[in-house]
Amino acid sequence: MQTKIYTLSPEDTQHPFLDEAAYILKHGGLVAFPTETVYGLGGSATDSQAAQKIYAAKGRPSDNPLIIHVADPEDASIYAHVNETYQKLAEAFMPGPLTVILPKRDIIPETVTGGLDTVAVRCPSHPLARALIRRAGIAIAAPSANLSGSPSPTSGDHVIRDLSGRIDAIIDGGSSEIGLESTIIKLDGSHATLLRPGAITVDALRCVCEEVTVSPAIKASLAEGERPLSPGMKYKHYAPSSPLVLIDGDENAVLAFFKQAQENESCAILCYREEVSALRNENLIDIGERENLSEQAHNLFSALRQTESMDVRIIYAHLPPEDGLGLALYNRLIRAAAHTVRRV
Ligand code: TXA
Ligand code: MG
Repeated sequence: MQTKIYTLSPEDTQHPFLDEAAYILKHGGLVAFPTETVYGLGGSATDSQAAQKIYAAKGRPSDNPLIIHVADPEDASIYAHVNETYQKLAEAFMPGPLTVILPKRDIIPETVTGGLDTVAVRCPSHPLARALIRRAGIAIAAPSANLSGSPSPTSGDHVIRDLSGRIDAIIDGGSSEIGLESTIIKLDGSHATLLRPGAITVDALRCVCEEVTVSPAIKASLAEGERPLSPGMKYKHYAPSSPLVLIDGDENAVLAFFKQAQENESCAILCYREEVSALRNENLIDIGERENLSEQAHNLFSALRQTESMDVRIIYAHLPPEDGLGLALYNRLIRAAAHTVRRV
């Protein structure tokens, strides 16, 4: 399959390329598009065959449900049974990096929800994403636009590398601002359960929802036989081809560990900007300033992709803090590291 590449800047919301892309979506085809979190691989959310094509293009198991994307938060009620808590959350955080799981309406086929009677709804804030969904005139089902087993794509190039030749079109809109996937919560009445941490933090959610429970699976691995709240939790997520080990300790001890590791073994290091001058340049990746978690989130997946082309035996990175945006970084890294943490 020949994949069309549409290169646009975020403000090109009137560009005729978007009409072409919307036409493809309306006729059952697949289009990858930028969002503020990561790129999505979109197909019509009411078309069971489009969902099947998405699973096939990604190489993803079809019981792992898709998020549907709407142009306006109010449109959620066409596809799901919304309640008062949803309205409050929408007012506070949408459009933006929050996905809410609600009971689904019949218009959403079970192929999209992996057989579940709930559907995940999100209204992205990226202007190209909203313009595309609006033109398509229908919600767009979209998982992250990576091959199953790769990190989520945060640039058009990442998507082109993973999906070129497998889908109809890719809208390249530059790099994703946030760089980590949306926060996912499941609503049961007014009770919210956090299933995946993202840029909308637990503290921010608590300002709007009275009850927010954090699913234990976010930090720990599932016990054997345990049933996950979100099917995505049971799949092994991205793991780099060389093992990743997270280093925990005070500032000086971690830097001393990195220096020692560079002397003694073939390793890649994801370090803070402040540490760059103290370390060797080879196989070193600067993921941002120590205190700037947004910058680290923006760079993380790209950094992990970079390690794939490094011929190293092991990869080291800092263990992120577990609060605020740190929880989202922690959750992605701890899984990529298969929970391997070394205290120094
Ligand atoms: O930022 C994002 O959320 C990106 C962009 C493209 O919007 N999308 C994304 O989709 O990360 P995906 O498919 O890679 O991750 C969606 C997660 C999966 O772990 C899936 O199991 C879970 O959401 N999920 C979807 N629908 C669900 C449902 N009805 N109940 C429980 N979990 C659900
Ligand atoms: Mg994904």
